[in-house]
Amino acid sequence: MALAFGVDVGGSGIKGALVDLETGELAQERQKIKTPIPATPKAVAEVIGELIRKCEVPEGTPIGVALPAPQRHGTVMFMANLDQSWVGVNVCDAIEKYTGYKVRSVNDADAAGYAEVAYGAAKDNHGVVIVTTLGTGIGSALVVDGVLVPNTELGHIEIDGHDAEQKAAASVREKKKLSWDKWAKRLQKYYSTLQMLFTPDLFVVGGGVSRHHEKFLPKLDLKTPIKPAELRNTAGIVGAAILAAKDK
Ligand code: BGC
Repeated sequence: MALAFGVDVGGSGIKGALVDLETGELAQERQKIKTPIPATPKAVAEVIGELIRKCEVPEGTPIGVALPAPQRHGTVMFMANLDQSWVGVNVCDAIEKYTGYKVRSVNDADAAGYAEVAYGAAKDNHGVVIVTTLGTGIGSALVVDGVLVPNTELGHIEIDGHDAEQKAAASVREKKKLSWDKWAKRLQKYYSTLQMLFTPDLFVVGGGVSRHHEKFLPKLDLKTPIKPAELRNTAGIVGAAILAAKDK
C-alpha cells in the first residue's frame, strides 16, 4: 500500500494520519492535538513532531503539512488566524529545524480542494471548481480542469466594506449565535459574489460545518451547483498527503 502522512493545522486542533494514496482514505485513526497558544512556528512544529511519532510514521514516508496561510514556495505571506510570527517563515525549514522531519507544505484550503477533486465531491469535474472551507476562517481552492491554482484566498474578498470571512466563516455563526437562516443570508451574499466574479461550474463547501449542509445549503439560491464536500474533516490531511507524495 502506498502511504503518505498528512497533517492539517487548524485554529483549534492539529490533526494527522497516514493516508492510503490509492483510495484517499485514512489508513489509521486520525490523531488530534490541541493547537498551542500562541501558535508560533516552534510550538506548532513540536506538535507536528509529536503527531508523527504518535502515528508511528515509517521512515521515508512523504509528509505533507497543510497550514492556514498563503505560501510562496513554502514561505508564509500573511497569517490571518495563527500567530503573526509565522509571516516570512518558510514552513518546511521551520518544521525541519524544530523536529528534524522533512515535510512539504501547502495552504490548508488548497489541500482540501485538491483532495475533493482527486477523491471527493469534485471528482471527474471539468471546468472551474471553487472549493471553500468554512471554519475558523474561509479558505478557498480554485481548480481548473483538475489543475490547482494555489493561494487564491477568496475568504478575504471585501464585501460591503468587510473582510468576507469575518462575516461568513462558520466560527462567526458560532460566536455570534446566528440562526442557520441568518448565517445562510451571509453565505448567499458571499457565494453570489464569487459566482459573479468567477462564473464557476461548481462550488464545493467543506469545513466541519459541512456535515450540517442540509441546514444551510438548501437556503442558497445560486445559478452554480453547490455541493457539500465528501471528505469533510479529513480533506486537509488527505490533500496534504497526496501533494507531498506527488512532489517527492
Ligand atoms: C487564511 C487562508 C486559509 C483559510 C482557512 C484564511 O484566513 O488566510 O490561508 O486557507 O483561512 O483556514
